Amino acid sequence: MGSIVGQIAKLKGCTVIGIAGGEEKCNYIKNELGFDEAIDYKSENIYSALKKKCPKGIDVFFDNVGGVILDAALSKLRMHAKVVICGAISQYNNKHKIDGPSNYLSLLVTRSSMQGMVVMDYTKDFGKAAKEIGIWMQEGKLKSREDIYQGIENFRETYNRLFSGEKNGKLILKVIA
Ligand SMILES: NC(=O)c1ccc[n+]([C@@H]2O[C@H](COP(=O)([O-])OP(=O)(O)OC[C@H]3O[C@@H](n4cnc5c(N)ncnc54)[C@H](OP(=O)(O)O)[C@@H]3O)[C@@H](O)[C@H]2O)c1
Repeated sequence: MGSIVGQIAKLKGCTVIGIAGGEEKCNYIKNELGFDEAIDYKSENIYSALKKKCPKGIDVFFDNVGGVILDAALSKLRMHAKVVICGAISQYNNKHKIDGPSNYLSLLVTRSSMQGMVVMDYTKDFGKAAKEIGIWMQEGKLKSREDIYQGIENFRETYNRLFSGEKNGKLILKVIA
């Protein structure tokens, strides 16, 4: 999700800062996908990295992760920013209550908005999007990488890679060889 959203934002003329886990993924989104900057959430302090790499603040934050990263982004919003809540993968396995954003007052100060987005609300636009995305892919303007594993017996191990980040690209389990 993040790699595609970031590339589309670049195609639409935005300055894009991506947040990814590990040096290899950060190099990939910068050098291969053309993001302007990358932040390694596993080794960098998100607050200071956002301050350094978004010196003017954030206009649009597309959130797949929630938790600490959402909180850090909220603290760096520009006036009239938009926060899109797509997912909160850092919170799905919580055994205690979900860590909500404690920096939400930043929405008030910056007159910003935070809104949920569910892809199924846009089914009528799927055809149009598939065409546009297909053309970008053909032209090499949009790249997608898949990490494919084999066999239903490997479901658990493969599924857990979603949360550990031990995968390169879209995680796919091929059930039938
Ligand atoms: N709203 C919707 O309609 C919709 C539809 C589909 C998916 N989603 C949500 O969108 C998000 C991304 O989905 P996806 O399909 O792109 O999944 P994905 O390809 O599996 O990407 C998930 C990425 O989340 C990162 N991650 C996992 N645990 C994390 C943590 N504790 N802290 C920070 N980052 C963490 C990992 O990044 P690294 O590999 O860089 O470590 C992982 O690669 C998920 O939250 C999913 O539930 C929403």
